[in-house]
Amino acid sequence: MAYAAFRSIGAYVPQKILSNDDLSKMVDTTDEWITKRTGIKERHIADENETTSDLGMKAASLAIERSGIDASAIDMVVCATISPDYFCMPSTATIISKKLGLGPVTAFDISAACTGFVYILAIAKAFIESGMKKNVLIIGAEKLSAITDYTDRGTCILFGDGAGAAVISATEKKEEAIIDVHTGADGTYADLLMTPNGGTGSPHDALEGETGACFMQMKGNETFKVAVRTLTKDVKEILAANNLTGDDIKHFIPHQANYRIIKAVGDALKMREEQVVLTVAKYGNTSGASIPMAMNDVYEQGNLKKGALMLLDAFGGGLTWGSALVPFSPLK
Ligand SMILES: CC(C)(COP(=O)(O)OP(=O)(O)OC[C@H]1O[C@@H](n2cnc3c(N)ncnc32)[C@H](O)[C@@H]1OP(=O)(O)O)[C@@H](O)C(=O)NCCC(=O)NCCS
Repeated sequence: MAYAAFRSIGAYVPQKILSNDDLSKMVDTTDEWITKRTGIKERHIADENETTSDLGMKAASLAIERSGIDASAIDMVVCATISPDYFCMPSTATIISKKLGLGPVTAFDISAACTGFVYILAIAKAFIESGMKKNVLIIGAEKLSAITDYTDRGTCILFGDGAGAAVISATEKKEEAIIDVHTGADGTYADLLMTPNGGTGSPHDALEGETGACFMQMKGNETFKVAVRTLTKDVKEILAANNLTGDDIKHFIPHQANYRIIKAVGDALKMREEQVVLTVAKYGNTSGASIPMAMNDVYEQGNLKKGALMLLDAFGGGLTWGSALVPFSPLK
């Protein structure tokens, strides 16, 4: 049987920084409020002419280079994004494939908001274990600044741009295999976090005269409570299902939405400080890109060693959630 191994990680962060002080000149907020309620100090913002596929392509290029696998051997590309280059088609994954000069590949996007990276990890694992694909490039890429309403202080303080990517490939060595991925969704909570306009679910006149047709809207406080509850339950379940405890985890890499959510979940799981990866202060919430961007930070600091067990967990619009137990299994 083929197993799926997590071979490499790469990320791209746009240069321009939007600080809390910058935001305090745009909306009625302060650095103190944002820091206290979210842990975010700054976020990176893509240039006007930089697209989501540009960010994703740069992260993917690094992930392929670090994987030791030739680009010509990549046979599937999956992108998780809620800020695609184009509404509906073509998919951002096909554009990234073209920009990377990949050969004929299967390529598509998925929409699972901030849980996107865990969903595409599950997809890559399933395609590889079934024998349908051998080397899958997965990318979480977001230009959230393009769908953020910079007049809404409840949301604009949270989001940033960036991309992260990984190469997942077939292996016969069980010790290299991704152990488990859990994914879930509950549409009952769909209205907590959404881009209400621009699709068939919105009345046509909602778009008339609107510049921000696709802006995100969020019921922050309710989202916060459901997030803590759902994430804690999901992580406890995946650990128990695999006879593992928090002590077995080297790096706990949660979706970077809010420091207080990460702290509450980490405390409930009795994670030690050195296990918890935190990048929310410098990148904000980059949705589907946040977990691979955080993982890339650990890698670039030289702390992601072969065999290290990572616990990923995420939560986002839909609502969706997911968790994964992943040993880092580089080829080189
Ligand atoms: C958005 C969030 C930071 C708001 O923090 P909160 O503690 O829940 O704050 P509330 O929404 O209850 O608002 C409290 C007060 O702060 C105000 N406020 C909201 N945003 C503000 C800002 N940027 N600056 C200053 N005040 C702000 C509100 O208007 C409210 O004022 P009021 O009491 O006079 O009505 C928090 O709810 C959150 O992070 N939620 C989860 C978001 C998330 O993770 N989303 C993505 C999931 S993937």
